[in-house]
Amino acid sequence: MVSAFEAAPLVLLFASPDDDPISWRAALQRRIPDLEVRIFPEIGDPAAIEAALVWLPPPGLLASLPNLRAIFSLGAGVDRLLEDPTLPADVPLCRMVDPSLTASMAEFVLLHVLRYHRDLDVYEQQQRRAEWRLVLPRPASATVVGVMGLGELGIASARLLLRHGFTVRGWSRTPKAVEGVASFAGEAELDAFLAEVGVLVCLLPLTPVTRGILNAALFARLARGARLVNLARGAHLVERDLLEALDSGHLAHATLDVFTREPLPSDHPFWRHPRITVTPHAAAYSLPESGAEIVAENIRRLRAGAPLLHRVDRRRGY
Ligand code: NAP
Ligand code: GLV
Repeated sequence: MVSAFEAAPLVLLFASPDDDPISWRAALQRRIPDLEVRIFPEIGDPAAIEAALVWLPPPGLLASLPNLRAIFSLGAGVDRLLEDPTLPADVPLCRMVDPSLTASMAEFVLLHVLRYHRDLDVYEQQQRRAEWRLVLPRPASATVVGVMGLGELGIASARLLLRHGFTVRGWSRTPKAVEGVASFAGEAELDAFLAEVGVLVCLLPLTPVTRGILNAALFARLARGARLVNLARGAHLVERDLLEALDSGHLAHATLDVFTREPLPSDHPFWRHPRITVTPHAAAYSLPESGAEIVAENIRRLRAGAPLLHRVDRRRGY
């Protein structure tokens, strides 16, 4: 016999300022036809909502849902959710792990590494001076790329870089075995990881341990002329330290996709710095058709009382 609880359609709240709710609702309902999807701010009776699919929800929103049983993040990073002191402590929190998100991140990493490898940042500066000067191309293997964070996104990016012939090393909390990628782990191996890195790519989660990790002391451990690509979170970077490292010439260039304040304020020095490329948190997003697959699977699991996929370890912060 089916209990009344099992027979009742689950109600999911969707709240995101950056994602298309209509496409997500359609993609979810194609997989779970009886799923009711409410789109913030039209939440109806809060007591009916059992699951929430969110990106940057207003602080306090999730705490206002008394029967919430699961929180699904539309983002891979959950730092902003964990910063909300009202986030219900006993409700499972799951992050986004999705092939379309991963593929778009790996593509973005490759794009910027190729740009640096082929010296486009140098040519852009030469163009401003109408200066015609060739930098002789080097083989991809001569460029050492260091990927900080060898998780879902870091490993996929490292593998794509390897396929293009780059020399790739990765740094994580615990050692990893990824064929072709030199693995370094923990603070004890950070120096060895950074030595020889020409392009440093940050794909770490933002946690109390990793906040401010891209700072003057770390830059000083990189070889002169290294380039930085931060695609993780703005608060990984100590902004003043980056400006000093660029102005002294120790770092040659930086590409920043994420910022402590987003949108980046129009008077921020990064916008006009000749050796910084700014993108508007554009590195990677989930396509609804792909991301809905994982959310639907977790909704089925929630209904069946089965363990949820990609649960965040709240103590670790990712
Ligand atoms: P993930 O699978 O959880 O991987 C995180 C990696 O970071 C793991 O390898 C982990 O090591 C490592 N790590 C964590 N704390 C560390 C520490 N203290 N020292 C050294 N390594 C540490 O995360 P993901 O899915 O790859 O996502 C990474 C981040 O990318 C997200 O948190 C988000 O901030 C960012 N992101 C940005 C965009 C964008 O559009 N710009 C899009 C998506 C995601 P262990 O495996 O050993 O624990
Ligand atoms: C985007 O920044 C994400 O965490 O998915």
